[in-house]
Amino acid sequence: MANTSPQRTLPLLSPHSGGRSSLTCAFRCGMACAHEVSNPSENTYFGDVVADAISRRGALRAGALGALVVSTGVVGVGAALPAAADPDKETILKGSSGGGHGGSSSSGLKFTPVAPNKLDAITVPPGYDHSVVVRWGDPVVPGAPAFDFDNQTAAAQAKQFGYNCDYVTLFPMGKDRGLLWVNHEYTDEVLMFRGYVDGNAAPLEQIKIALAAHGGSVVEIARAGKSGKWALVTHGSRRYNRRLTAQTPMRFSGPAAGSALLKTAADPTGRFPKGMLNNCAGGTTPWGTVLTAEENFNQYFVGGNGVPEDQKANLVRYGISTTVAIPSGNRRFDRVEERFDLAKHPHEINRFGWIVEIDPFDPDSTPIKRTALGRMAHEAATTTLAKDGRLVAYMGDDSRFEYFFKFVSKDRYIPGFDRHNRDLLDEGTLYVAKLTGDSPAAEIDGTGKLPGDGEFDGAGEWIPLVSGKRSFVTGMTAEEVLVFTRTAADKVGATKMDRPEDMERNPVNGAVYLALTNNTNRTAAQLDEANPRPSNRHGHILEIVESRNDAGANRFAWSLPLVCGDPTDPSTYFAGFDKTKVSPISCPDNLAFDRDGNLWISTDGNALGNADGLFVMPVSGRERGYVRQFLTVPFGAETCGPMVTDDQRSVFVAVQHPGEITGATPDNPASTWPDGAQPRPSVAVAWHKQGKKIGS
Ligand code: FEO
Ligand code: CA
Ligand code: CA
Repeated sequence: MANTSPQRTLPLLSPHSGGRSSLTCAFRCGMACAHEVSNPSENTYFGDVVADAISRRGALRAGALGALVVSTGVVGVGAALPAAADPDKETILKGSSGGGHGGSSSSGLKFTPVAPNKLDAITVPPGYDHSVVVRWGDPVVPGAPAFDFDNQTAAAQAKQFGYNCDYVTLFPMGKDRGLLWVNHEYTDEVLMFRGYVDGNAAPLEQIKIALAAHGGSVVEIARAGKSGKWALVTHGSRRYNRRLTAQTPMRFSGPAAGSALLKTAADPTGRFPKGMLNNCAGGTTPWGTVLTAEENFNQYFVGGNGVPEDQKANLVRYGISTTVAIPSGNRRFDRVEERFDLAKHPHEINRFGWIVEIDPFDPDSTPIKRTALGRMAHEAATTTLAKDGRLVAYMGDDSRFEYFFKFVSKDRYIPGFDRHNRDLLDEGTLYVAKLTGDSPAAEIDGTGKLPGDGEFDGAGEWIPLVSGKRSFVTGMTAEEVLVFTRTAADKVGATKMDRPEDMERNPVNGAVYLALTNNTNRTAAQLDEANPRPSNRHGHILEIVESRNDAGANRFAWSLPLVCGDPTDPSTYFAGFDKTKVSPISCPDNLAFDRDGNLWISTDGNALGNADGLFVMPVSGRERGYVRQFLTVPFGAETCGPMVTDDQRSVFVAVQHPGEITGATPDNPASTWPDGAQPRPSVAVAWHKQGKKIGS
């Protein structure tokens, strides 16, 4: 739908001092960096102080069980953890290696890294190739029309692949076929529509298109020939293909379902939310479902100034203005659906910010918002098993100075017993992390110089917040802890981190990794050993070894194997590896492991000035810390996903917001990727031309 309105009047100066464009700031995070940090607590910057169900559901169709073992990180049941009964951190990290299950000290990674660049293209190492699997607007549901940029409709978008793809995972159905799940995090209306002004002036149909472009997609894909290339299945039944949007009927489960805090005029039961928003990263369960994480849901609402006074503090803690009626850059979903006006429907916002479980194999299933996992700017939920078989989910809350969490189920996972397993995420204990360093505070001087003991490291504990209907937080009910989880974590003294993003568990040795993207707001007075740099533009990675290497433990050891940036910058650290050999890396975001235990890292907002990309780092053996860049995405995009298939012959990435550069519009595009026309967020796959393992 062409629109000849004058140029938009949004203030498009990026508040973000990293590498992100102002468009990204406006449309992805609602200008979060321009706002006050929403965690006002005085919590310490502590320096002051699997897969069986798949085997029947997917693998009846499948046989590639292992891919999900890797992507879920399920290592507790019948999987390969080091045999030591009570291994210490050193044993775990050094005893087995990236590079293979055999304990070799070499990672097996031999590719020639790609050079940093600003190209409007995906670049891969010599010997590799890549292609686009699915792009914004591609038909998903049978009967969907072909994409037509200048004649978009909401009805078409609801059947087509959504915008800004983020989390990607593959549910195999045999060696050469599978269901690809993809999140659609947010819309960038300035790039989607010609002449877009702002949400106040937008034609209602554009707002409806945006609602339909959020959510997620299930698409059936197939291997192309015998290579590592995969492509959309465009013929045949495509019986599993599905679009989920900001309007798909869902339900709540778990202890807060039916809570008064979740009741609205449209749903007086508090059990049936409508749609999901800002789905960022995710995870999978051992029984073959996807967990998708609602992140910056705060940006979709207006009317925060009109909520009852006693509810305002809760809004502020989740980054919603209570002083202005219509925040700058708001998409004005309320013009289509009144529920997005908090002055009229103050509880509607409590129905977002959850982990949503979706069964990709049942297109008629109702998505479930699992309240036991708490409410925050959820980045992801990575599942694994405790040694006793309880299900564990690791989760980050991606905002500056927020926390990271884990959920441990009450009951054990029973291989093959779906009817039992599918409710494991409804009963259990939600914990938040508190970290302490083991070096004197004076040695954390902000330069990045390692403390005297040679490592940024220390100990951590998981503090229980809530278990079923029992709250462990003074002054808060269990329902309040689950709906206002940030406030609960404030009260128990959790550690404020530099934007906790994706978490992943190493399938080889069980160590857990957390990407900390950046935090330019951290001051020198707020340093601690786990967040040791002020004005942290490039981020770092935290490594956790749970006590007894048991994901169900209450304590852990931690260290920082990677402090990102240009390796010539003395504040960087690459686990002691020779910095003259590594690739520069900035703003780690999504993480994934390959089957050999090498850590793949995608970046968002490269503050070194070049395109974002995908990197790989061995985390044990003699190449621990040897970061190499495997691919770059078009300048202006961030790299999401990533996902290495179980056979290690393919790596999928989501190319999110190509061409999202300040000043870019459809009439003045900053990118024409992937088709030489308007930029289209897409999932891509890369492979070795001779069928070798990715990275070899
Ligand atoms: Fe959507 Fe935290 O990145
Ligand atoms: Ca130390
Ligand atoms: Ca992310």
